[in-house]
Amino acid sequence: MSQKPVIYLKDYQAPAYQILTTDLRFELNTEETLVTSHLRIVRAEGADTQAPLQLHGHESVELISLTLDGQPLAAQQWQREGELLSLQALPAEFELICVTRIHPAQNTALEGLYLSDGIYATQCEAEGFRRITFFPDRPDVMSVFTTTLIADQSQYPILLSNGNPIAQGELEGGRHWVTWQDPHPKPAYLFALVAGNLSKFEDHFTTVSGRKVLLQIYAEAKDLDKLAYAMDSLKRAMQWDEEVYGREYDLDIYMIVAVDFFNMGAMENKGLNIFNTACVLAHPRTTTDAAFQRVESVVAHEYFHNWSGNRVTCRDWFQLSLKEGFTVFRDQCFSADMHSETLKRVEEVSMLRTAQFAEDAGPMAHPVRPESFIEISNFYTLTVYEKGAEVVRMLHTLLGPELFRQGTDLYFARHDGQAVTTDDFVQAMADVSGRDLSQFKRWYSQAGTPRLQVRDEYDAAQQIYRLRLKQSCPATPEAAEKLPFHMPVKISLLDDEGALIPGTQQVLELTAAEQVFEFTQIQAQPLPSLLQGFSAPVKLDYPYTDAQLAFLSKHDNDGFNRWEAGQQLAVRLLQRLIADYQAGKPFSLEARLVEVWSSILEDEQIDPAMKSLLLTLPSEAYLSELAEVIDPDAIHQARRFLRQALAQALEAQWLNLWTAMDSEAAYQPTREEIARRSLKNTCLGYLMTLDNAAYLALAESQFNAADNMTEQQAALMAVAHSNFSDSAAALLDEFFHQWQHESLVMNQWLGIQASDPKPGALARVELLRQHPIYDARNPNKLRAVIGTFCQQNPVNFHALDGQGYAFLADRILELDRQNPQIASRLLTPLTRWRKYDAQRQQLMQAQLQRILQEPNLSGDVYEVASKSV
Ligand code: ARG
Ligand code: ZN
Repeated sequence: MSQKPVIYLKDYQAPAYQILTTDLRFELNTEETLVTSHLRIVRAEGADTQAPLQLHGHESVELISLTLDGQPLAAQQWQREGELLSLQALPAEFELICVTRIHPAQNTALEGLYLSDGIYATQCEAEGFRRITFFPDRPDVMSVFTTTLIADQSQYPILLSNGNPIAQGELEGGRHWVTWQDPHPKPAYLFALVAGNLSKFEDHFTTVSGRKVLLQIYAEAKDLDKLAYAMDSLKRAMQWDEEVYGREYDLDIYMIVAVDFFNMGAMENKGLNIFNTACVLAHPRTTTDAAFQRVESVVAHEYFHNWSGNRVTCRDWFQLSLKEGFTVFRDQCFSADMHSETLKRVEEVSMLRTAQFAEDAGPMAHPVRPESFIEISNFYTLTVYEKGAEVVRMLHTLLGPELFRQGTDLYFARHDGQAVTTDDFVQAMADVSGRDLSQFKRWYSQAGTPRLQVRDEYDAAQQIYRLRLKQSCPATPEAAEKLPFHMPVKISLLDDEGALIPGTQQVLELTAAEQVFEFTQIQAQPLPSLLQGFSAPVKLDYPYTDAQLAFLSKHDNDGFNRWEAGQQLAVRLLQRLIADYQAGKPFSLEARLVEVWSSILEDEQIDPAMKSLLLTLPSEAYLSELAEVIDPDAIHQARRFLRQALAQALEAQWLNLWTAMDSEAAYQPTREEIARRSLKNTCLGYLMTLDNAAYLALAESQFNAADNMTEQQAALMAVAHSNFSDSAAALLDEFFHQWQHESLVMNQWLGIQASDPKPGALARVELLRQHPIYDARNPNKLRAVIGTFCQQNPVNFHALDGQGYAFLADRILELDRQNPQIASRLLTPLTRWRKYDAQRQQLMQAQLQRILQEPNLSGDVYEVASKSV
């Protein structure tokens, strides 16, 4: 059982006290850290004079002393209960000095202040600051922070915190100190400090108003050659935010620090971002193209938070999507501008439709603005981030780019320096557009993925075409009945040549449960292209024939929908194969898909990146999400058969295209080169399904010739997952010896093995856990091995002997004592038991029960497990 109470949005109360200034002093020692905080506090206007001051402090924080206006606090004046420290009988204005002792070296949860491989680092969002000192640890309490760090000079030459360095000096015994001041009032979750022996890469950016900003990226010396791309991305993001949103940076220095131990991707602490190395280090030899793009987008995301998150922050954690949904939307548009809008959209929608739709259909489903939580860390979800970004995108679609920009200008101007709500964001959009967005706000309050059913009729005599749109939304834990959403549905009507019928591309606004839209003067039965660009996060149902999908995959006037038509055609075929497998019928290949794939392979008009995407079959995860009851074996075998059959039927074309995409040119991370490598790797993947020694040799030659990780890793993956076991072992070994000193590359090496679908994966995973490069305290290693096995190796994880499930439960129980956030995240696959057959359901539930029987579960794991059984 968990001790932590459920927190409700409806119980929100404004804070009774504000902290004007926060002076912190950290004495960093090997065994312990002493923290002295000096707070100047005032009672909030209108607050009850009897109101207590509530400070938060984690149980691991040892309280050494509390002084109020210079006097030790009397025993009856304060009370510590759970995470709350309440002070009574307070003056309207006072100073509080609080001394605490903490133990960063023993902090394995990686929240608050901890040591990552000899480097002190913090993670305070959402509630990590209370693991450092007693403080009103809530985002609507903002304060000006001054921070002094004291540490051994030789071990910790670099001492960083938010804002600007204002003083420094040396002390006896080889110690030194630095004081930092951040002029912008901020909530405690944006506080950060770093101390360590770090190297830096420097550059400058001149803002639109001519201010010169110092940019620094810190990492371990061995990684200094991997920082140029992050720096370049940062400068492009700074410029983009000035151009697209009119947002200028507001301090003289912007720092990023890369650390090896990090629970998430990165953190936007004011002026001092802290990043997982995986989201900042990039070098062609060690980093794939996909990882380069991730670095670019995460660097931009954290930078964009400086306005959407830091200058305007959240009133409470229920409003998390206020900053995350908006900032994800901003980073998505940035990446689209840097690369290709269509490719980026395909990537976003694929992720949304597999992972977020699955979350929305599972026991942890919650609205973009949740109503309650036990542990806020459990709500850093795809729903809050990715669906939240879709909601902002819909506002952009409904208002159009100009009004949307006026809306963000108003939002930033009106709320600068405030802690606000998602309602405030929508209100700014309503005010600039004069539109009533009250119905639209249901996207924030109702969970679940809406269904959009579309039917049509053509009246030839009247030349009228009608689209009948019908929406519904399944029940989710917070509500059984849903009210209709305000849904932008972008459409076009095409004639039988595939040309756009003039005037028919438009955004239909569906607001009722059912609505008919009429188009006049339509000369012949048109073919509708629906939900273009995926204009709303819904499941579309329209009875296209296979032939119509094949036609749309060639002619749709929307790039996203061209891809989508091909995908849906492949989905149908795969669903028929899945049914065949379950009925014990032999697989057979339908000619239509071969024709479509063949014409894509031959089409020289299609850009190679798009071609690679078009030729990639829907993932097992997406097929699982679409399934009524998930049959992991049938899904795996059907997809495997189809890949192999397409490889065989079009063998010469795959090989020709691989050859055409092969190049001697030195690596470049440009759009054209990324596209070329992607298509080349897709071809290799198909060819390697044929179990043909000639293609094994081709893969090995690609592995050996590669001057970059994108081609080397794809070759390794193809061989490692093939049936050539000796070659697989040899290549994995060679790769290991080449890269064993590169921790991030070793994560790839671990992940490739953990995702190998061949039988016996669990035993291989057990061996990986014994491997010297494995470190069960490092979240990246846990994700590479445990996360990958349980989420990207469905045939093995869901083996009917139940061993995969027991393995995961063992790891959760072990990890919960060490790092509850990671334990809770890794638990996700077990929570999805309702989607499986009776036998698997029982096995999965049994493991959830076993976890729940553990007496001292963290709130994190308790919340997820208890809501899931
Ligand atoms: N605000 C960070 C980001 O999205 C994520 C931090 C989440 N941390 C956590 N412990 N849940 O950029
Ligand atoms: Zn964020």
